[in-house]
Amino acid sequence: MSRTIAPPRVLNIDDLRREAKRRLPRVVFDYIDGGAERERTLGENRRAFEDVLFRPRSAVATRHCDLSTEVLGTRLELPFMLAPVGSSRLFYQRGEEAAARAAGKAGTGYILSTLSGCRLEDVKAATTGPAWYQLYLVGGRDVALSAIARARAAGYRALVVTIDTPVAGLRERDLRNGIKELLSFNPLQMWPYVWQMLSRPGWLASYLGDGGLMNFPNIVLADGPMAYADVGAALEQSMVSWDDFPWIREAWQGPIVVKGAHTADDARRAVDAGASAVVVSNHGARQLDGVSPTIRVLPEVVAAVGGEVEVLLDGGIRCGGDVVKAICLGARAVLIGRAYAYGLGAAGEAGVTRAIDILRTDVVRTMKLLGCGSIGALDRSFVDPPAHWLSRCETL
Ligand SMILES: Cc1cc2nc3c(=O)[nH]c(=O)nc-3n(C[C@H](O)[C@H](O)[C@H](O)COP(=O)(O)O)c2cc1C
Repeated sequence: MSRTIAPPRVLNIDDLRREAKRRLPRVVFDYIDGGAERERTLGENRRAFEDVLFRPRSAVATRHCDLSTEVLGTRLELPFMLAPVGSSRLFYQRGEEAAARAAGKAGTGYILSTLSGCRLEDVKAATTGPAWYQLYLVGGRDVALSAIARARAAGYRALVVTIDTPVAGLRERDLRNGIKELLSFNPLQMWPYVWQMLSRPGWLASYLGDGGLMNFPNIVLADGPMAYADVGAALEQSMVSWDDFPWIREAWQGPIVVKGAHTADDARRAVDAGASAVVVSNHGARQLDGVSPTIRVLPEVVAAVGGEVEVLLDGGIRCGGDVVKAICLGARAVLIGRAYAYGLGAAGEAGVTRAIDILRTDVVRTMKLLGCGSIGALDRSFVDPPAHWLSRCETL
């Protein structure tokens, strides 16, 4: 393990975040770290986990903890998967492949973003674990259909349709760091912001060694793969609506996961649209600032779908205790986003592996302290959520 991410220097995810900040140019680090507008939901996603208190069972000898679970019929060795994180190739050379490889070695799944810098076939080939493909309709229906066909042929097991991105959120840090100017590739416009790269020679060497940037090889337009600069505009023209689900369903045929359900109503609509699972998600607080933290709305969504489909959750997970709390409140498993993206930015595959190890060790310790020997045995009796979080469940 490289010195930068070994213990005791890196003991938790916040330590990995610090190491990512040291290695990455500010514009890249803030792209990972930042949230939308005033970043109120960004803070709340994490903080709200503190409102859920544990109710341990003491004097229960738990020598072995079984962390395995089953999601959409696939066994995972861990109760968390890696969420889709666009442009991971900016964080480390061949970033999506590195993250997928680390997930597979740990026995868990990886979800590839449409906005990947690596070809979806190469990412699938890099991992021994299950892979899902996350769909944006960037470029329109025909472009999406061709990506869906490629994902199916490559062996992706589920299609994740993200529904919370009708427009890109306002991420102020990106604008202040000159992301638009840097992507203009106009030397005069770029110049005031280039120092961010020059001050991170390690990252710059790896970025240039990887071919420099870059396009989106899974969004193939009439004139070739979509260029980096087009993303914001393309997202605005590509919103998904419930009316799109029939043709997506017809094209894909395998399980569909709806990512971004945030209310009981949307979760029900996802079930009616044919989803096999929903992800309670606010896109890591990068879209609508001021929405509830995800852990708070989890009980409402679980009650609304009534066991008809599996419920996953993401947002704010930075330690194993957070994973356990979400499972106690009804999530089948969780997705981690920034927790592994920091690891990737800090040290590539080794950093992602370190993030996974930190969370795995945390989950085991938390479960032993709770007196619970398996993920399947975790339930609401192990936690005390605020009573008002449950009030909506009663009316469903
Ligand atoms: C840098 C970054 C890029 C992301 N890109 C995507 C994406 O392309 N598609 C998507 O559905 N979600 C995307 N997300 C959201 C994540 O999939 C996930 O919902 C979120 O990161 C969970 O919150 P957490 O980071 O607090 O764990 C992105 C998140 C981050 C941090």
